Amino acid sequence: MSPRSCAGLPVGALPLRGDAARAVAAVRLSRLAALLPDGLSVRLMDGDDSSLLADFRVRVVATLEDPDHYRMAGEVGNFVADHLGDRGLTAGVFRGGRLVAYGALGLPGADDPNRGRDLDLPEAELGSVAHMSSAMVDPSERGRGLHHRLIDWRIEVAEALGRRHLLTTVSPRNHCSWGHLAGHGIYPKRLVRVGGDLVRLLVHRDFTTDPIFDPATAELVAIEDLAGRWDVFERGHVWGRVAAGDGAARRWYALCGRVWRGRGR
Ligand SMILES: CC(C)(COP(=O)(O)OP(=O)(O)OC[C@H]1O[C@@H](n2cnc3c(N)ncnc32)[C@H](O)[C@@H]1OP(=O)(O)O)[C@@H](O)C(=O)NCCC(=O)NCCS
Repeated sequence: MSPRSCAGLPVGALPLRGDAARAVAAVRLSRLAALLPDGLSVRLMDGDDSSLLADFRVRVVATLEDPDHYRMAGEVGNFVADHLGDRGLTAGVFRGGRLVAYGALGLPGADDPNRGRDLDLPEAELGSVAHMSSAMVDPSERGRGLHHRLIDWRIEVAEALGRRHLLTTVSPRNHCSWGHLAGHGIYPKRLVRVGGDLVRLLVHRDFTTDPIFDPATAELVAIEDLAGRWDVFERGHVWGRVAAGDGAARRWYALCGRVWRGRGR
């Protein structure tokens, strides 16, 4: 990543963590705040919000129509503590005093688990990894753009902090989640096993590259088959989700294919 996107900070100071990272992240909340629907506000959460965040996550997970969409068993470390302290940043969206959504960005240090290893990133680049750890929106506030805005905020913060690689894992069946991330250039690149036997998509964006889809290699894979299609990721990766049909007949597909390398490759 070039120094241009590092908020004017000396490159030697990167990557930032702790209070300095919180300051950079807080500045970028104003744009998110300006775009929120009426009645909602946003702030950085901190250690005093531990119970609030933990309870909210349990409540949202309990309402999932498919429990595979989010399993806490797939997380590493202590999610709440890690994302309210030195290892991460969390934006909380509130209606009055009620937490209705959050987006968490993990900033792994040298000794922390790092999803860059699952992608075989060079050791020298692990320090520039940020985790798009998770976002959750209260069912009553869905479909209003909160997830997309929380993705944008985390992208802006990661880039400003000098973290060029964004990574996380997502259930292949949670196409709403990975489809949204893919819409922001964070594409499913591999299948991995986490938390024992959970099969997850490893999604990734590198700010220094802008891969282009080769339409000649396009293949649609039904969402329910994706977890078994390891071959797709030997040839290329997933670029987005596609719907076919309406109403009860609607089915979702993963659009798969190779990176464009020019004709005659
Ligand atoms: C997945 C989840 C975070 C999505 O949250 P959400 O806030 O409903 O998502 P959004 O409102 O941003 O997007 C939903 C749709 O509303 C649309 N939308 C409606 N109003 C919008 C607006 N004002 N601005 C932008 N998008 C808007 C979006 O375009 C989007 O359509 P798309 O799916 O075709 O892209 C939410 O369903 C959730 O919390 N699920 C349970 C937990 C989970 O699975 N988390 C993700 C794993 S980490």
